[in-house]
Formats: sequence, C-alpha cells, structure tokens
Amino acid sequence: MSKIKMSKNIVLIGFMGSGKSTTGKVLAQRIHYSFIDSDEFIESKIKMSISDYFIQYGEDQFRSLEEDIISQIALTSNTVIATGGGIVKNPNNILNLKSNGIIIYLKGSPEHIFERLKYDTTRPLLNTENKLETIKSLLKQRSPLYESASDIIIDIDNKSIDEVVVSIL
Ligand code: S3P
Repeated sequence: MSKIKMSKNIVLIGFMGSGKSTTGKVLAQRIHYSFIDSDEFIESKIKMSISDYFIQYGEDQFRSLEEDIISQIALTSNTVIATGGGIVKNPNNILNLKSNGIIIYLKGSPEHIFERLKYDTTRPLLNTENKLETIKSLLKQRSPLYESASDIIIDIDNKSIDEVVVSIL
C-alpha cells in the first residue's frame, strides 16, 4: 500500500501588495504543492469582490467571514496559502494556520508597498486621500503582529518574485 506524505502548509502573511499571491503561486509550482489564496476563496464563496463586500457589509462582517474561511483552509496540508493582509488582526486565524503550517512574513517597507499599490483601487482600506500615509500608519499598527505571528521573515524590498521564492526555499 502506498503512503501519502502529509506535510505542513506554507502560509504567506504580510501587508497588502507584498506579493503573497504571486509569490505563493510560483512557490507552490516549484515545490509541487497545491495553492490557495484566501481572498480568492472568499470571493468565490460570496460571489462578489472583497471591495464590494466591504462597501455593502462593512469590515467587521468581512473579518468574521474571513475567520470562518481561514479555519477551513487551515485544515489542508501540502498547500501554499496566500492570506489577506488583515488576518493577523484576529489571533484565532494565526492559531488555526499554525496548527499545520509554517508562517512566513513577506516584509516590505511602506515606500516599497506604496510603489506597488499606488494605482491600485481594489483595496478598500487604502482608498484614502493620502495612500502613503495610510500605508505607513496601518503598517505601524500591524508590523508587531506580523512579526510575532511569523516563524520566518523574508525582506522583499527590491527583490523580484523569483528572488523572494529563492529566499523562502
Ligand atoms: C486587507 C487585505 C486584502 C483583503 C482586504 C483587507 C487588509 O488582501 O483581504 O481588502 O486588511 O490588509 P491582500 O493583502 O491580498 O491585499
């Protein structure tokens, strides 16, 4: 009888625009893991974009939906999981993901993230008058959460997706 080896998930966390989804897809292909993007998973369940959901139902409802979905995704194995930038706001998400996963924080500076997101309109929390200031302030609140939740930290400033994947490997 053949045995299937169950390995821990690799969970990518980090701020919006840190490349969790793109990096996750490339990484998963390279190590022959499945790939799940928690935001895409949520969108496929609610059948609308996260931006529209935020407008219609607000952030609190989004967070409770996110917790529910993360608890389901966390049950997989041999999977690279790209998460939404706000999952660290809820400690239950981290507990669930850590139960069968290694958590990797893709750490970018506010300036680097701003460069990537300056023309983006799909992040409801960043649709403000001064996007760079909003990024700085949110990142200041969240950095300690990303750092304490992670097993490994990878600096992403001035790195291509391939270089980030190589650093993870
Ligand atoms: C959010 C990040 C987004 C998405 C939602 C809220 C956040 O995901 O989950 O807009 O609070 O940082 P990405 O990190 O994939 O942009």
